[in-house]
Amino acid sequence: MKPHFMQTLGEFIVANQKDYPNASGEFSALFSAIRLAAKVIHREINKAGLADLAGLAGGDNIQGEAQRKLDVLANDTFKAALAARGVVCGIASEEEDHYILLDDGLNTDSKYIVLMDPLDGSSNIDVNVSVGTIFSVYKRRSPVGTKVTDADFYQRGNEQVAAGYVIYGSSTMMVYTTGQGVNGFTFDPTLGVFSLSHPDMKTPELGQIYSVNEGNYVHFPDGVKRYIKYCQVEDAATSRPYTSRYIGSLVSDIHRNLIYGGIFLYPSSSPYPEGKLRLLYECNPIAFLVEQAGGRAISGSGQRIMDIQPESLHERVPFFAGSRRMIEDLEVCLDEFGGKG
Ligand code: AHG
Ligand code: MN
Ligand code: MN
Repeated sequence: MKPHFMQTLGEFIVANQKDYPNASGEFSALFSAIRLAAKVIHREINKAGLADLAGLAGGDNIQGEAQRKLDVLANDTFKAALAARGVVCGIASEEEDHYILLDDGLNTDSKYIVLMDPLDGSSNIDVNVSVGTIFSVYKRRSPVGTKVTDADFYQRGNEQVAAGYVIYGSSTMMVYTTGQGVNGFTFDPTLGVFSLSHPDMKTPELGQIYSVNEGNYVHFPDGVKRYIKYCQVEDAATSRPYTSRYIGSLVSDIHRNLIYGGIFLYPSSSPYPEGKLRLLYECNPIAFLVEQAGGRAISGSGQRIMDIQPESLHERVPFFAGSRRMIEDLEVCLDEFGGKG
């Protein structure tokens, strides 16, 4: 068998830089910071059970959710990697009450901000289920050289210049978009490089998987209940009943559905009237990826996720994302029976 050398993530970024006429190298540097932090998290997650990294850290984040040791470690790692390279002027994270201003000289003149969920699905970590990192990149609105402001962070999803996730699964992968399609890179731990294993990812127009925490069914809006019943009805033309698959780890659920085709639902429910997922660092980046792969992402009122004007850093939104034709069927149900609490 001939050896096969796939393009590495570093090579891919350099090769595609010509598509960005104003690229100054800052963006590539930002990506190498994310790539390096992802490698560190890959390493730590793989030894979590051995190195006393499982379990709770002892504190809560601003949303009152218990922080796990790996949430804190992932947050600190991504912050440090980004700050050390002078490539971002501000960072917002699920694990930080407020956004972080990087005005230490090294970073003041940079033009990008990053929003992130450093470790998504972290409650799964103690039982060896896949977790992820989600990131979203914007150009700042405030002038270079000044301090970042709210307006830099409260931009609509359609202003994202890049977004992606890292999935720490049976293999570690980085999947990202800069608005020119979606590409997936698999990490080879023996070489320490990410290689282009999934070029130009497209999601099927119609899938056969629906993913929702069905235990909350009684709390869902009528439109969502109707759609779930629709998924379960027999119909040869659309291959129903669909298969139900729900890991409870957003990145893993989305990654599977992106490849096989499917729909992911996190609706409003009485414990979470606005849904559970966060607009800025969970829904928007995932919506950007899903749309770039040919799918769609909408809220409970049927609004395109990336058109929503954010009002606060940690706001939540009912989130539906996946194959185009499945979202269309859902829309019919939301229109007729309602998609909000
Ligand atoms: P996080 O670990 O970043 O707080 O996110 C957990 C999220 C997400 O990964 C998943 O889709 C969702 O929680 C699952 O929620 P339920 O347990 O309510 O289904
Ligand atoms: Mn999350
Ligand atoms: Mn998280």
